[in-house]
Amino acid sequence: MLLTKNVIINQYTRVLESRVLINSVNLYKMEEDKQRLFTIDEQQLLEEILLHRRDVRGNRFIKKSLSKNSIDAILQAGLSAPSVGFSQPWEFVLIADQETKRKIKAAFSEETRKAALVFCDKKQQEYIKLKLEGIIEAPLNIAVFYKPKNEPVLGQTSMPEMGKYSVVCAIQNMWLMARSLNIGLGWVSILDPDKVKRVLNAPKENELIGYLCLGYTDMFYNKPELELKKWEQKKLQEEVVINEKYR
Ligand SMILES: Cc1cc2nc3c(=O)[nH]c(=O)nc-3n(C[C@H](O)[C@H](O)[C@H](O)COP(=O)(O)O)c2cc1C
Repeated sequence: MLLTKNVIINQYTRVLESRVLINSVNLYKMEEDKQRLFTIDEQQLLEEILLHRRDVRGNRFIKKSLSKNSIDAILQAGLSAPSVGFSQPWEFVLIADQETKRKIKAAFSEETRKAALVFCDKKQQEYIKLKLEGIIEAPLNIAVFYKPKNEPVLGQTSMPEMGKYSVVCAIQNMWLMARSLNIGLGWVSILDPDKVKRVLNAPKENELIGYLCLGYTDMFYNKPELELKKWEQKKLQEEVVINEKYR
């Protein structure tokens, strides 16, 4: 009888222990998840996404709308970006309205006319031929703003521009997430920011950091379009990495 009782207790203890074990395995897994180590395959995947991210312009966008899930994933990527003092100084205006896009496009056209004059002779002819935006063609435009704080921001006291750089980090995250979803994103900077602010009724203190055009594409170039069109050449690592000090 006593033996049977002991057996039962032992079995019960084993069950409890195994539960604890299971829990500690879960806990261990949770810990593991918390610090999430990546595999070689995942690292290579990131490399692939970085390598194949492209600036996409109106010559490549197709007429296919973006799902809310995809848009949310891209916005969440932006919200996961690093920011100085964790200030998260960003605001995103989603624009699908054709009339608004037309006004922004008009602002682009005016600026690009002026920009062309900055370049000389052959470069000017090349500039005119380039497609440098996809405002109308892209189903979604996102204007990304820097919203300054009224109080000091940790880390931004010596270099005030760090707040704006944080917003750039958000845009880069969005760009990579979009590419991972096979969605093209193009950054348009040939714009008068004040005009864009007026069109979007943006608060006075907000600063436009990036105007983005997003949509599915008929293809992604394997290299930057401006490299393919011989506007610029890709720099090599040894051209831009300095050991220890400038000489
Ligand atoms: C801050 C910033 C502003 C840019 N503005 C424009 C722009 O106004 N028009 C354009 O066609 N591309 C613009 N681009 C895209 C660059 O031309 C592009 O990133 C570069 O040519 C390299 O090509 P890739 O992004 O496809 O690798 C911009 C990119 C950055 C980072």
